[in-house]
Amino acid sequence: MNESLREIPVADLMSWDAAIELEFLAKEIAEHDLAYHQNDAPTIDDATYDVLRQRNNEIESRFPLLVRPDSPSKKVGAPVSVRFSKITHAKPMLSLRNGFSEEDITEFLTRVRRFLSLDDSEAVDIIGEPKIDGLSISLRYEKGRLVHAATRGDGRFGEDVTANIQTLKDIPPEIIGDVPAVLEVRGEVYMGKAHFDVLNGRQEANDERVFANPRNAAAGSLRQKDPSITASRPLGMFAYSWGEVSTPVAVTHSGYLDQLVAWGFSVNPLTESLSDISSIMSFYNSLNERRAGLDYDIDGIVYKVDRIDWQERLGQVSRAPRWAIAHKFPAEKVQTLLKEIRIQVGRTGSLTPVAELEPVTVGGVVVSRATLHNEDEIIRKDVRVGDTVIVQRAGDVIPQVVSAVMEKRPDQSVKFDFPVSCPECGSYAIREEGEVARRCTGGLICPAQAVERLKHFVSRNAFDIEGLGGRSIEDFWNDGLIKTPVDIFRLIGNRKALEGREGWGAKSIDNLFSVLDEKLNITLDRFIYALGIRQVGQATARLMAKQFGTLDHWRNTMLAACDVESEAYQDLVNIDGIGPSAAKDLIEFVAEPHNIQVLDEFSEILNVEDYVEPDQSSSPVAGKTVVFTGTLETVGRNEAKARAETLGAKVAGSVSKKTDYVIAGPGAGSKVKKAADLGVAILTEQEWLNLIEP
Ligand code: IVH
Repeated sequence: MNESLREIPVADLMSWDAAIELEFLAKEIAEHDLAYHQNDAPTIDDATYDVLRQRNNEIESRFPLLVRPDSPSKKVGAPVSVRFSKITHAKPMLSLRNGFSEEDITEFLTRVRRFLSLDDSEAVDIIGEPKIDGLSISLRYEKGRLVHAATRGDGRFGEDVTANIQTLKDIPPEIIGDVPAVLEVRGEVYMGKAHFDVLNGRQEANDERVFANPRNAAAGSLRQKDPSITASRPLGMFAYSWGEVSTPVAVTHSGYLDQLVAWGFSVNPLTESLSDISSIMSFYNSLNERRAGLDYDIDGIVYKVDRIDWQERLGQVSRAPRWAIAHKFPAEKVQTLLKEIRIQVGRTGSLTPVAELEPVTVGGVVVSRATLHNEDEIIRKDVRVGDTVIVQRAGDVIPQVVSAVMEKRPDQSVKFDFPVSCPECGSYAIREEGEVARRCTGGLICPAQAVERLKHFVSRNAFDIEGLGGRSIEDFWNDGLIKTPVDIFRLIGNRKALEGREGWGAKSIDNLFSVLDEKLNITLDRFIYALGIRQVGQATARLMAKQFGTLDHWRNTMLAACDVESEAYQDLVNIDGIGPSAAKDLIEFVAEPHNIQVLDEFSEILNVEDYVEPDQSSSPVAGKTVVFTGTLETVGRNEAKARAETLGAKVAGSVSKKTDYVIAGPGAGSKVKKAADLGVAILTEQEWLNLIEP
């Protein structure tokens, strides 16, 4: 998606942009959900995630007709992981709506009062609880005995972690006294910060996986196949709600919490009874200040209507109760020294300023580098080398410099002068109207651009040349072994050039040659994408492949389109999805003689396959959902997926009842087992090939 779209205020979005952005958000949020819930490895921090979700909600409320069937607002969390057996929650495990400001909370209180039609004299008691940054769990007790424990999963089905949960000291295996026949206690499992540091120290010493933060450590520790590992990791649990209950336990939430304590559960000691917005805000501010000093991570406060009869009347809307809201804290910020501002040159020549920082821990991660985005950002923030700066972690784990701390600025500090020439090749770096980035004009004579383009060329969605990583590209480039993408193929057979290089034994050389050999055949869309033309991503490349069919036709049309009065230019911009701006980049690319030379050299050595319209009508797998697992022997995984998609199949990442075929190669494991359990057809790679190529 065009990055700049996200900067348009929702009120100014046009419906077609809104549709594009909703599609993007649905995908992006689903990926983050998966990374967070299933793989315990989030790639963005919570505050940034919340911003994505909030934007999705805002766009949806402005364009209700555009709400997608796969909208994140309709889902909670990620599907369960396949390693554990699944438990159906008797009552779904809900999520919470987020508020960020005092206004959001005032609105929440107003909504509650309006919904209950309360008159002004009636008070609404609110319970404020720290929002623990761990993972939620549901414990089912029958006749007082713990029968099972499940993670939230997707809210309806969780993972069975009963064996592991019994190792937690905060969880009584049996509760004594007046206990309902069925009682589901819900709460948050967490790891204390001190324990987290000890665990990570131990992991590092043993060369084992180091966790990014206590939440991941807690999730990773609970979701262990071997309960003795969980037992060796000190986890705590704060109880805060309930699921199915056969007879009511209390009439208020606070009464319920008292009962939990009496039964031997841990309830968070900072919980408070609050009466109005001013007590709410002072509780919020004081906890925000104390937060860093607590031994466990909290990322906000949850406010809950105390009266349970009111909770019941309020009910829920989509995935969250109307009677509760999470008041999120701002992203964690820390101060550190800005040692240097380095300029990075990207594939298309954009100059990105990067702050080199005195290493500092933010949200459990050591940060030594942060993006400063672009020239305007540096001017706007006036950050200077030698400043103490405030750093926060945001999207894609890339930390950001928020601002400089003026009081700590050294006397002799000078404004940062953004270079007007490329630091790598000395060419002019110009900024075109309407662009935020300054770009190096050196094209392929710029070593940084050349290397980045080569890296793009071999990357997974381009030529996918496995075995030729970024480091090798840099080394080969520095030694003059490859200067243009064509040189990569000229390596074939040139053993001498590779022998004796570190990491290049006979076997890896053989492997590289055979991969390169395979890649001498390439589809037109991949080829166009691999060229690394600005604004020509996979989708645009595919559109052009479809429109022009052959490499020659594409090349000639692009050349002819350099004349904007030509029919060729019209044909290009008439393609739905290609506008004048992408057209300009395409024209600039072919206008460079060295690029045309590269194309011509490629024509001689590669077989760029003509575009073939997928014929899905006769495809035996059109509309089927397939899952690939294990190692495929005849083609790479991505190619197999692309092939299946071309034939009209939907390729999924995990097995479910909806899966039609699982194609299993050597090394396949749990997915095959699951498919067998669900009665899904399991095919060998050969059987699959027989099916699609009868
Ligand atoms: S109540 C029906 N209370 O926050 C409401 N949730 O963003 C259920 N969480 O899934 C949740 N501390 O994992 C509640 N004191 C607290 C909480 C809490 C942390 C988590 C919980 C929930 C998530 C929602």
